[in-house]
Amino acid sequence: MWKRHEPDIERKSPAQFAAMREAGLVVAGALRAAADAAAPGVSTADLDAVASEVILAAGAVPSFKGYHGYPATLCTSVNEEIVHGIPGPRRRLRHGDLLSIDCGAIVDGWHADAALSLGIGDLPPGLARLLDVCEQAMWAGLAQARPGARLTDISHAVEATVRAAGRGYGIVEDYVGHFIGSEMHMDPPVLNQGKPGRGPVLTAGMALAVEPLLTAGSPETVLDDDGWTVRSADGRPAAHFEHTVAITADGPWVLTAPDGGAAGLARAAVPAAGARPAPPATAPPRPAVRP
Ligand code: MF3
Ligand code: CO
Repeated sequence: MWKRHEPDIERKSPAQFAAMREAGLVVAGALRAAADAAAPGVSTADLDAVASEVILAAGAVPSFKGYHGYPATLCTSVNEEIVHGIPGPRRRLRHGDLLSIDCGAIVDGWHADAALSLGIGDLPPGLARLLDVCEQAMWAGLAQARPGARLTDISHAVEATVRAAGRGYGIVEDYVGHFIGSEMHMDPPVLNQGKPGRGPVLTAGMALAVEPLLTAGSPETVLDDDGWTVRSADGRPAAHFEHTVAITADGPWVLTAPDGGAAGLARAAVPAAGARPAPPATAPPRPAVRP
């Protein structure tokens, strides 16, 4: 009798997780610096330069640059651009823009990948909520990244959080999360919706990126003529949050969050009934930094 096939998921040693953590902190620093620099009149190419400087100063390698020919360190996606927008000197930010910034870095051959969305100045309340829901959904997914859970427990937690927030949010299906380690994109994909309790059992040593893409409308996408920029088909704005998480015996370790995910995981909503395994009522205490 054949054993049911499970995809061969890369498992990391503690030393390899340590390299990914270093890469994660570099990504966190680059994203923070780019987000802090984002203001009306600043171009997305300016933000790219800021992030590039942080990554290179740390002795790390920007992973997006040259990836299938991609020309920049960051992806910067504005308003109806969902993901993979290319930074440019003529793309100047304006008050009220919704900006998503995505960044990846490599340390000693080990990858980390993260993204966040923010408003340039004030966003209308509906769009501020879109960002909140997307970020909460990401944290709900990350909270499921523990040994013994099944892959789609993550997917389901993301979806349940979005659905619980009401109608009007499109969960993009054409672009999804991924496992990560010695390469940025590794199989299997990490979907942002689906039934819980399916797919491979998660075990300590695995790492993956949870990255919901939400639109304020239809989830349908169109690819721009530049071959990269993905837009919402209906022109409605979109949000993107992403973290790289290591699965450890103690639970999720969010490598691209400076606090290891402590704050976000503590806030993470308990997924809707039907998700399994049941998460602990309170997150275990977590060290802020691990070796
Ligand atoms: N960070 C994107 C992802 O999350 C990948 C961007 S690759 C690039 O999967 F080439 F577009 F930069
Ligand atoms: Co990613």
